[in-house]
Amino acid sequence: MPRSTPPPPTGIGLTALLTAGARVAENIRLDPLYRDHVAPLFLESAGARDTWWPFPGREEDALWRWLNGYIPLRTRFFDDYLLDAGRRGRHQVVVLGAGLDTRAFRLPWPCPAPGGEPGDRAATVYEIDLPSVLDFKEAVLTGRRGRPRCARAAVRADLRGNWTSGLLAAGFRPDLPTAWLAEGLAAHLGPEENDRLMESVTRLSAPGSRFATEYWNSATLRSWSEAMEGAPSMDFLRPHLRPGCRGEPEEWFAAHGWQADVHALTELAHTHLRPRALASGPRTSAAARAMNRALVVAAT
Ligand SMILES: C[S@@+](CC[C@H](N)C(=O)[O-])C[C@H]1O[C@@H](n2cnc3c(N)ncnc32)[C@H](O)[C@@H]1O
Repeated sequence: MPRSTPPPPTGIGLTALLTAGARVAENIRLDPLYRDHVAPLFLESAGARDTWWPFPGREEDALWRWLNGYIPLRTRFFDDYLLDAGRRGRHQVVVLGAGLDTRAFRLPWPCPAPGGEPGDRAATVYEIDLPSVLDFKEAVLTGRRGRPRCARAAVRADLRGNWTSGLLAAGFRPDLPTAWLAEGLAAHLGPEENDRLMESVTRLSAPGSRFATEYWNSATLRSWSEAMEGAPSMDFLRPHLRPGCRGEPEEWFAAHGWQADVHALTELAHTHLRPRALASGPRTSAAARAMNRALVVAAT
């Protein structure tokens, strides 16, 4: 690790490295759903010996098998969501709980129009996460060659508190429609925290905004955790899992003034010709059933 790189995130921040590890594993497939050439830098800088760092015995670990099958599908789903939002003119993007997300570096964002105003055609990606995660991320990114393919701002904030002032100070414009993304975040917050987060998002969303998320509620927590019970790495993850949002996604979004479109995970797996990605054994099959209604895109 270069001497100036802060230590890799621990606690809840370590979940960002686990996700990056699953994305690295996708890079070596012959039929990848995306390529993430930045993610390996995070693992390397963390001193990781493999993509399942820091846990031993990935082949025996149901959580690793689940992430390895699920994260590529989830990542591709949200890549497609953001590219579609860009095509529809939403060039302001906010990634909540961004972790080590590298979309600013790897997606073909719309370019600024010649002579255009800032924020006009150029995409701007705001990434919000805890300071320890973004300190590590920025230090790793600073040392690499290559630039983001859009304007990019890192906003250090706790999403359970006042995060909107940091976002506004970074240049976010509430008068422009926004494509929001909360990938892998809802499961780490409680119902009141998710409600408050969504109230703030709604306040900042101009007409035409969209919000995509991995939906999680107390029923998902129960059935997904049951499916993963016994996986050695669950000792780490269990304390960081919370009951998420209240009720079914359609009702929750409607209560916040949004209309939700729920996408079945099993259909997505078939679309990408990966039915076995979610069914490598009884535990991953049960986990896939628990999260079948997890991928949601909502519109104002
Ligand atoms: C499972 S990771 C997903 C990271 C990223 N969205 C991705 O898919 O690569 C969850 C992320 O949410 C962040 N997170 C959890 N609780 C948070 C909070 N209260 N405020 C800010 N970030 C938070 C963690 O630090 C972590 O980076």
